[in-house]
Amino acid sequence: MQKQPFAPLVEDHKRVKEIIEKLLGTSASAKETRQDLLGQLKKELEAHEALEEKLLYPALKQQEPTRDMALEAYQEHHVVDVLLDELESMDFQDEAWKAKLRVLQENLLHHIREEEKDLFPNAAKTLDEGQLKHIEQGIEQARR
Ligand SMILES: [Fe+2]
Repeated sequence: MQKQPFAPLVEDHKRVKEIIEKLLGTSASAKETRQDLLGQLKKELEAHEALEEKLLYPALKQQEPTRDMALEAYQEHHVVDVLLDELESMDFQDEAWKAKLRVLQENLLHHIREEEKDLFPNAAKTLDEGQLKHIEQGIEQARR
């Protein structure tokens, strides 16, 4: 079995965390920078979520040891999407903007931690080789 089929997803996590850190370093007057970075964040998250929801979660939902984890992960993606939409449509100079971004960060860090500590290792253990190969190839293909 492959050692770490989910390494590219962990790389995504790293990039997402970096963009959020950059965003948290912006001031309310840096509207264009916020817009630009938020656009990058959205692009990263959309691609990443779509990949996981297409390739990984359906397989995990079908087996008992990881079913609840997968169902929870879908909902965590959803919460992140809602917060992202709200951040996009609200006034970038509003004092609540950065507070909402911090809540997004907290949610995301929680989700990432669960994936890297529980979901990915459990998936690597419980999915069969064919399934893992399929996921690995799907990720590779999407990255090209
Ligand atoms: Fe995820």
